[in-house]
Amino acid sequence: MFIIQQSVFTAVICVLCSVLLIILLKWTRVKKLKLPPGPKGWPFIGNLPVLFQDPGTTNDEYYYTRCARQYGDIYKLKLGSKMMYVLCKFDYIREAFNHSYIQGRPPAVAYQIAFGPEAKGIILASGSEWKVMKQFAVGVFRELGVGKGVFETRIRAETERLMLKLDSIGGSSSICPNLMELFYIAVSNITCGITFGTQFDYDDSRFKAIVNVMQTYSHSIGPSAIFLTSRLLCGLPFGPGKATRGCLSKFKEFLELEIEKHDSKNACSAEKSSSTTFVGAFLGEILNKGADENFNKVNLITCCLELFFAGTETTSITCTSPFCVSLLTQKFEMRLGGKSMLSL
Ligand code: HEM
Repeated sequence: MFIIQQSVFTAVICVLCSVLLIILLKWTRVKKLKLPPGPKGWPFIGNLPVLFQDPGTTNDEYYYTRCARQYGDIYKLKLGSKMMYVLCKFDYIREAFNHSYIQGRPPAVAYQIAFGPEAKGIILASGSEWKVMKQFAVGVFRELGVGKGVFETRIRAETERLMLKLDSIGGSSSICPNLMELFYIAVSNITCGITFGTQFDYDDSRFKAIVNVMQTYSHSIGPSAIFLTSRLLCGLPFGPGKATRGCLSKFKEFLELEIEKHDSKNACSAEKSSSTTFVGAFLGEILNKGADENFNKVNLITCCLELFFAGTETTSITCTSPFCVSLLTQKFEMRLGGKSMLSL
């Protein structure tokens, strides 16, 4: 009995020593690499708690800006077992994107959880899959006139609708318009036009709910979209992981219905070249060549989702920059005799 206990004790000591040795070896190897500095983290979880802070409410200054001031233009954050490097200077970012070995993207596990294993998209795709999808999207956009005069006409028409909406709110001066929501609707309406060939009204409650999902999503995925790429974080039953999953499934419902409506309207053409929408061109590709690992209905939903999420927040924020807001505020003040209140 005593002999058995002694051998178990020896085995436990051996295992502990080996674990300590591995940790020590790893630590000395990391030390030798001369990695950039970064804030101290917790054992095992590193700087993960930072991701659960809302930068808009917890700090006056964005956490990442504060770190850049303290540690320099390249610093590291440890997210669990993964190391993240933050580049805060345009030249560094440009240089980094010129290195082929750091151009890959982590797999979009959140898409796979929400949509299925075929979900790859464009923005979070890597390697040959990214090349195929990007080439296809650029080709379709070119055919649909993106970046040409015909597209400008479309943007001008949507701007007119937005101005009419702002005017109508100005008429009933007690209403305080949520400017960001209106810009989100305007911008996503343009994306809707290219994607399904449809357009929504500024008061459409279903579309307003979807715009709300987009706003929640960009908050929940976190910096560098970490909640999209970490299975552990995305799978959490609380916080941003849960919110990200919720947003993805609500958006999927919206897209499925719109794609179905598009299909039943028979807008889809078997010929990619004669298609008038992104969905039509994509379905045409499936019809012509048969479904494969890139062209299938799951990846269609993923690509559409990315077009909305990539284009809406970026463009809306650009449009509602202080310059635009000050212009609009002046216009409103003139109309309401100084009674206007615009909110972002
Ligand atoms: C002011 C407006 C915009 C800004 C600042 C912006 C910014 C960016 C940036 C920085 C990337 C690179 C992301 C990365 O590689 O990780 C990107 C990629 C992308 N953006 Fe935009 N974007 C804007 C508008 C749009 C619009 C309107 C759309 C389409 C509806 C769009 C669709 C895409 C797509 C599909 C990609 C992925 C391209 C690729 O993987 O090669 N973006 N955008």
